[in-house]
Amino acid sequence: MAAKIISGKDVAAEIRAELKDQVADLKTKGIVPGLGVVLVGEDPASVSYVTSKAKGCEEIGMYEETVRLDADTPEDEVLKVIDRMNKDPKISGILVQLPLPDHISVENVISYISPEKDVDGFHPVNLGKLLRGEPCPLPCTPHGVKQLLERSGNDPSGKHVVICGRSNIVGKPLAAILMQKAKGANAVVTVVHTGAKDIPYYTKQADILVAAMGKPGAITADMVSEGTVVVDVGVNRIPDDTKKKGFRLAGDVDYEPVAEKASYITPVPGGVGPMTVTMLLYNTVEAAVRLNQG
Ligand code: GUN
Repeated sequence: MAAKIISGKDVAAEIRAELKDQVADLKTKGIVPGLGVVLVGEDPASVSYVTSKAKGCEEIGMYEETVRLDADTPEDEVLKVIDRMNKDPKISGILVQLPLPDHISVENVISYISPEKDVDGFHPVNLGKLLRGEPCPLPCTPHGVKQLLERSGNDPSGKHVVICGRSNIVGKPLAAILMQKAKGANAVVTVVHTGAKDIPYYTKQADILVAAMGKPGAITADMVSEGTVVVDVGVNRIPDDTKKKGFRLAGDVDYEPVAEKASYITPVPGGVGPMTVTMLLYNTVEAAVRLNQG
């Protein structure tokens, strides 16, 4: 079987078109959603993400503001920027790009963001709501995976979803989202991680397999059963002198051989990547609506 490709680019464009209409409608009511982004340091992947977030805001007609700080900025300076954004009525969503330099506590920074403006869904209050099944902003990458599955006709309800990776950004929140008794979820979820003795034992049982370990090509064809839906969250930069940028992007899935066995597969690039920024825009619009209801 050759897999059908799930294009994150196409699904993201579809959602952005919906958001653009929603933003235009909100503007007639005097509401302009706004995103505040904080970037500390010059990590090239982070700079690239932040740039695409700004472009995305512009594309759908949202206000955007990026504050770039030097890598050696003290933690309290970062908190001051967040404090200002928490109080700024033009800002409905705040995103602090991760990773942060080692001298800054991620926990302190995330907890400082007002939960109402936490468009990453990383604040402990929002993660608590997520586990309890209460309305909350869904972390952007897992939210993007959920949308890709639903909009490609692969409703996870009643399916066995095997997630490889237990990060706070992807694996853990995705498991919490997909196990809920809710539309586009209601799956039986297994989370596989480096503590597992026999990883292929689990991956071969998946109806839907999500690779989110950050290891290029780690999911090989022998680990995948025929007909599995494969979602590749990995974005790994592989040095490559033949490319203008000096690197190429590779996912966590050994793409060609796995695509021979899968029923559906997301490519890298052009799969989950474009969805992450899109769901950030979605969460920001939602936050603007909620803030103006309150
Ligand atoms: N770095 C990589 N992914 C993310 C994300 O979803 N949010 C933030 N804030 N930083 C990231």
